[in-house]
Amino acid sequence: MKLTPFTSAEEFAIYCAKSLKEAPKRRRSAFKYFSLNTLSSVNDVLYPQSRMVVLREVFENFDFNIYTDSRTEKVVSLESHKEASALFYDPKKMIQIRLEGVLEKVEDSQNYFESLNDQQKRDYRTKMAPGSQTDSFKTIHESEGGYFQILRFHAQRFDLVQLHSEGHRRVKGYLDIKGAISSLCWVTP
Ligand SMILES: Cc1cc2nc3c(=O)[nH]c(=O)nc-3n(C[C@H](O)[C@H](O)[C@H](O)COP(=O)(O)O)c2cc1C
Repeated sequence: MKLTPFTSAEEFAIYCAKSLKEAPKRRRSAFKYFSLNTLSSVNDVLYPQSRMVVLREVFENFDFNIYTDSRTEKVVSLESHKEASALFYDPKKMIQIRLEGVLEKVEDSQNYFESLNDQQKRDYRTKMAPGSQTDSFKTIHESEGGYFQILRFHAQRFDLVQLHSEGHRRVKGYLDIKGAISSLCWVTP
């Protein structure tokens, strides 16, 4: 269904937060897969690194969890740069959500790992670390253990865009330490 253009900045922000919160449970939500961006040094030069990930759990106002392998670059680079951003886009609703904040490791990831089924666990049991050069496309898995890691993103700022034939809309806002919206305003798209 086509969205009418937002006329309240608060309603636009609440709509986006709610859509993200529901995305993991909605099979067809476009926000389920998104670009997570972190910073990494390559030969002492800092580069933004983007990759697609699955949105797993969303908390109040744009905080969320993703699942990954603890050996991936996004986890390793956390030691030196915890700043991260996330980019979501719904092509049907023409809504872009940009978030900026910090990423952190969730300490009790291992407890959660035990609740996954064997097929799900397999993804986090590759013998070689993700990104390692191999001789073949075939992946060798270990039968036990694993490198499962949950990462929590704490959003600090958001930037929302709605592209619309009746006029584009854009809102920027800040979140306080508890994740509540502390300020927001319309900005020129
Ligand atoms: C559609 C899609 C979804 C993906 N979801 C995840 C995910 O939820 N977690 C993850 O660690 N990697 C996921 N990947 C793989 C990442 O994009 C990336 O290749 C991998 O995490 C290694 O990234 P890094 O070494 O830069 O951290 C996904 C890839 C695609 C294409």
